[in-house]
Formats: sequence, structure tokens, C-alpha cells
Amino acid sequence: MKIIRVHTKSRPSSVCCGAGALDEAINFLQGAQVFIVTDSNVFRLYQTLLAERFPQASVCVLPAGERHKNRRSLFRILDEMLGAQLHRSSVVVALGGGVIGDMAGLAAAVYMRGTRLIQIPTTLLAQVDSSVGGKTAIDYRGVKNMVGAFYQPERVFCDPLFLQTLPNREIRCGLGEIIKTAVLDPQVKDLVVQNFTRLFDFAFLQDLAAECVRFKAHIVERDETETSGLRKCLNLGHTTGHALELLCGRRSHGEYVLIGMWLESKIAEAEGVCSREYAEQIRAMIRLVLPRIPCFANAAEGLQFALLDKKNTSQGMVSMILPKAEGEYVEYVLPAERYGEYLKLLEGEQR
Ligand code: NAD
Ligand code: GLY
Repeated sequence: MKIIRVHTKSRPSSVCCGAGALDEAINFLQGAQVFIVTDSNVFRLYQTLLAERFPQASVCVLPAGERHKNRRSLFRILDEMLGAQLHRSSVVVALGGGVIGDMAGLAAAVYMRGTRLIQIPTTLLAQVDSSVGGKTAIDYRGVKNMVGAFYQPERVFCDPLFLQTLPNREIRCGLGEIIKTAVLDPQVKDLVVQNFTRLFDFAFLQDLAAECVRFKAHIVERDETETSGLRKCLNLGHTTGHALELLCGRRSHGEYVLIGMWLESKIAEAEGVCSREYAEQIRAMIRLVLPRIPCFANAAEGLQFALLDKKNTSQGMVSMILPKAEGEYVEYVLPAERYGEYLKLLEGEQR
């Protein structure tokens, strides 16, 4: 098992990665009043495990999926927390994917102005990315993660046992954020490229997940609240990914990140931000996970959502993180019209 420390100013935390992490979580929670937030799919799969391992805990079960990442679910969690008479030293346990982690995290941040929080991520995406770093949110009025807070969990426990029930498609989504990290960090890139035949092998995924957490911890420690700009790099592929996610909503977050990175590598190449050779290398990594980039008949309409991206600072301009060279990236701003033209690349047959 690997322990990765996250030395953030607001609250230092640590991430425990590997087999046995769930046992560590149970030890950590000894004696505390525990309130578990999960979704209907995870509850169906792990109901017996929950009853056996957390016999005293209250459990709040929310409907699964991004479309429920909203204020209704947030207030449902808060109502149930109040109903269970939670106090500030009770512990909220986010047991689920990124949707549950973000919502339970936000509920913990605002309930009595802050209760204790731990994350037990159950998807690959949540284990490699969303459970770490303290971003919490709900979507609001068509904007992704519009209402949220930075609120660090005390601990994160990533146990590979949960990955065994994950559908292949959800593994692919987690690989989306892993490929993003590979574009940002040469060490992760080498691991991915040298082991490309093992991307769906759980033993290898465990090592890869820990490397991604190490990289994210390094970024978050230096720019916890995204004020210096460094943390924005974690948004690579997300300007386009979020815009398409809000426009179409049929796929999962990680797949949209892959599609977003594909388009943004094309933009980086066309704008002269990176070489053609490097852009091709990125697209080759994307193809390891998503062999065919889908067509979006109305991709250009994604512009309305890209204009609401939280990175934007001027009206009529769209901000994105573009790859520059190995391990290098830059924040790049395009006039809306030009970005809209690039979105049209997704309307044709791919390439
Ligand atoms: P998700 O939480 O919707 O989980 C995906 C699906 O897998 C759901 O249907 C869920 O019920 C199911 N599931 C969860 N665990 C399972 C298991 N062990 N076995 C079988 N099924 C299981 O989605 P996700 O991909 O985990 O997370 C995406 C969300 O994370 C998005 O809302 C995104 O905005 C957010 N996110 C947040 C951060 C952050 O830093 N806070 C970073 C990246 C993404
Ligand atoms: N996933 C983006 C971040 O954590 O900053």
C-alpha cells in the first residue's frame, strides 16, 4: 500500500492507495459517528459490505449519475445529515464516484460551516483524480461545477477492490483523466507508453493510479485554490470536454475529457503552440483508450457552454489549457468565433 501526503495549507491530508485501504478507513473511523453518502448503483453492489463493515453508520443513497449532481441532491444530503443529528465532529464518508465525492464534499463543507470528511472513491476516475485535492461542487443552471467550495478531505482511501465491479466503459473514463495526467507529467507518460498493453490490467492500474495521485498532490500543494494559475493545468481537455458534456450529456466525464484533449491538441497544433509531432503523440495516447473520436452533428453549439467556463476572464473569449511540449502547457485564450470554428472539426468524420 502507498501513502501519498498532500501538504495543503487549509488542511494537510493523505491518500492511501492499494489493497487494504478500506480496512485502513474502517480503523480510522473507529469511535466516530459515521454518515455515508453513496449512489444507488454502489449501494446495490456493496449493501452487504456496508452492513458488515459499517454496522453503526447512517447511509444516504442518492440516484446515480451526473444529472443528479444538483441542488436537489445536495439538500437531500443536508436534510439527512440533520435528521441523523450529525455534529461537527461526525464524519461524512463519500463512497462513490466523482459525482458523489463532489456532492458529499460540498455538503460536508457547508453543514454547520464544516464537518469532517473522508473520501472512499469507487471509480477509477475518482481514485486517480476527483477524490484528491478538495474541489467539491454541484452543477447549476447549465454550468458544470458552478456552486462549490475548496474543502480538503482528512484522508482518501483508494481500494482497488471497488474496481472489480466497474463496467469497462467506466474504466475507460478513468483512463481519460490518466491520459490527461500523462500529457502533463512525463513520468506518468512513460508509464503509459511503456505499458500500453496493460492499460486494462488492474494490477498495473493500481501503480498508475498512485502515480497520478502523486502528480496531482504536487500541483494541489502549490496552488490549492487555483489562484496562482498552476492548478489550471489539471483542466487540460476540460474546456471542450465540459462544453460537450453540457451540450450532449450522454457520455461520461472521462470520455468527454478524452474528446476535449483530442480537439485541443488539434487547436494547439493549428495555433502553433505545439509541434505536429507532439500533437500526434498525444492523439496516439488518446486512441489507446478511445480508438475512434465520435462525430457531434451540433458540436459548434458547445460554444455557448465554453463561454461559461470558469477559466474565462474576458467576455467573448474562451480560455483553455493547451499542451506545448512534453510536460509543458500554457493557458491560451481564443476569440469565441475562432474557437467555434475549431469545434466544427468534431462535426465531421474522424480522421
Ligand atoms: P460517477 O460518480 O457518475 O460514476 C460513474 C458510474 O459508475 C455511476 O453510474 C456510478 O453509480 C457507477 N459506479 C461507481 N462506483 C462503482 C463501482 N465500484 N462499481 C460499479 N459501478 C460503480 O462518475 P465519475 O466518472 O466517477 O466522476 C465524474 C464526476 O467527477 C464529474 O461530475 C466530474 O465533474 C467530477 N470530477 C471532479 C474532480 C474534482 O477534482 N473534484 C475531478 C474530475 C472529475
Ligand atoms: N480536476 C481539476 C482539479 O482538481 O483542479
